[in-house]
Amino acid sequence: MNRAILLLAALAIAGSVAAASAASRLKPVMRSWKSDAATAQAMLSGAAAYDDAEMRRILAAYAADADGIASRLDGSSAAARQFGPRFAKFAADSKDALALAGAKAGVQARFAALHEECRSCHAAAGV
Ligand code: HEC
Repeated sequence: MNRAILLLAALAIAGSVAAASAASRLKPVMRSWKSDAATAQAMLSGAAAYDDAEMRRILAAYAADADGIASRLDGSSAAARQFGPRFAKFAADSKDALALAGAKAGVQARFAALHEECRSCHAAAGV
């Protein structure tokens, strides 16, 4: 079975209205991450001017969104055990990068590592 489906089930499993709506919010979160990733990529590649306030906004949004998802994945299901720590790490790494967002050179490598986390989680989820 596609592991993303197990993850969505884990997000909904608590049975509360809040948890069910959390599951339905995963796709919109991912879409906003995708659009923010494109904005960040353009700033880091030099295609757009580096704007540290915009970079901070993006990294703060990654951290807040991922913290929110991780906190709803604290159950004992296999999907919660597999993906909860990944979202928690993504949140922690986003916060680390946020501290370096003042300068493009400082945040560049951190951002590449975050994008590797996007890729590896998608591989693990089979999406
Ligand atoms: C810890 C796991 C995890 C991380 C980290 C993660 N994703 Fe995802 N992503 C998922 C899962 C699971 C889905 C499938 C969601 C679904 O099918 O509802 C997904 C789906 C997506 C989609 C498709 C959404 C759609 O409309 O179908 C995009 C785009 C995406 N992610 C972008 C990103 C970007 C960009 C990052 C990094 C900045 C990222 N993701 C980080 C787990 C993750």
